[in-house]
Amino acid sequence: MESFIEIMKNKKIVSASAPGKLMLFGEHSVVYGHPCIVTAVDQRLTVNIHENGEDVFTLEAPDLQLHAYAKTMEDLGKKPLPKGVRFIEILYKNFLKKHPQERGIHVTTRNEFNHTFGFGSSSAVTVAFAKALTTLYDITLTNKDLFDLCYEAVIEVQGVGSGFDIAAAIWGGTIFYVPAAEEVIQLNVEELPLVVGYTGIKADTPTIVRMVASLKNREPDKVEQIFENITVIVKKAQQAFIDDDKQFLGNLASNNQDLLRELGVSTKELDNLIKASEQAGSYGAKLSGAGGGDCMIAFSNGNKSNIEKAIDDAGGKVLHIKTNAPGVRIESSNK
Ligand code: PMV
Repeated sequence: MESFIEIMKNKKIVSASAPGKLMLFGEHSVVYGHPCIVTAVDQRLTVNIHENGEDVFTLEAPDLQLHAYAKTMEDLGKKPLPKGVRFIEILYKNFLKKHPQERGIHVTTRNEFNHTFGFGSSSAVTVAFAKALTTLYDITLTNKDLFDLCYEAVIEVQGVGSGFDIAAAIWGGTIFYVPAAEEVIQLNVEELPLVVGYTGIKADTPTIVRMVASLKNREPDKVEQIFENITVIVKKAQQAFIDDDKQFLGNLASNNQDLLRELGVSTKELDNLIKASEQAGSYGAKLSGAGGGDCMIAFSNGNKSNIEKAIDDAGGKVLHIKTNAPGVRIESSNK
């Protein structure tokens, strides 16, 4: 048996980071197998891991308000399971079933995400952790295998979700995505001319996804028709990205927004910010993500500052983020 000191001397330390995401086109219909377009954003979440030489899983995640968290290996996945550790712990438990290990690991996380509004920190932490873990044990996975490992954990934790956020965290850039990563096409776009406005209202994505599901139960034909129409927009947007036609992308965003309104997921606050951006000369705007609050995006005509001011004056908060960020990557590994 190695001593603790020997273990620490020889230990392999791996650090991996993954980006957050911003939905551009196709939210909600993507939950039912239709395509969407999503971009990775420049807020990253970093996970460091190393073996701790004990039969225990330990975690230090100050940004997730978790200090000195510890679980024995046999209790992994059992309650209590605080919010900040759920995705990591479930993924680790599933990983160990396939790749049993003698020793536990110590995990630390560092979050660059905006405190007001986190662009998908759960998917980013899951992906960064999965990449660090598989690297620690020299397991080489394709992006699709990494996706499957992460998606399994996310579905086990939250029950619903298309996996678009996991794909954005893995592949990065701006992608055309069909669930569950059946198709992932990189759209080779430059930095997108987007203005992002936050309504100040935090929405709960699973609740809104369930709301749409119940509308679909009550009015299946109507909702399926809306999804078909959104899909036409997503495919046109894919081409517009390739053609770099910003004006057409703006028009498509407005059309997508009309359909999201019909689904009942927009709000007065989102509509106000969208209207303000359009009056300030944006090519078009829509909500981004589940709706019910959170963010809107406007395709700028080049004059971003006018649109930003209009969003600000209408009571929104402009979030300065860069799109098209790189996907998951190893930041350092000492072996
Ligand atoms: O609220 P967000 O940014 O996590 O986006 C949710 C997008 C949905 O299509 C509504 C749900 C999903 O999992 O695709």
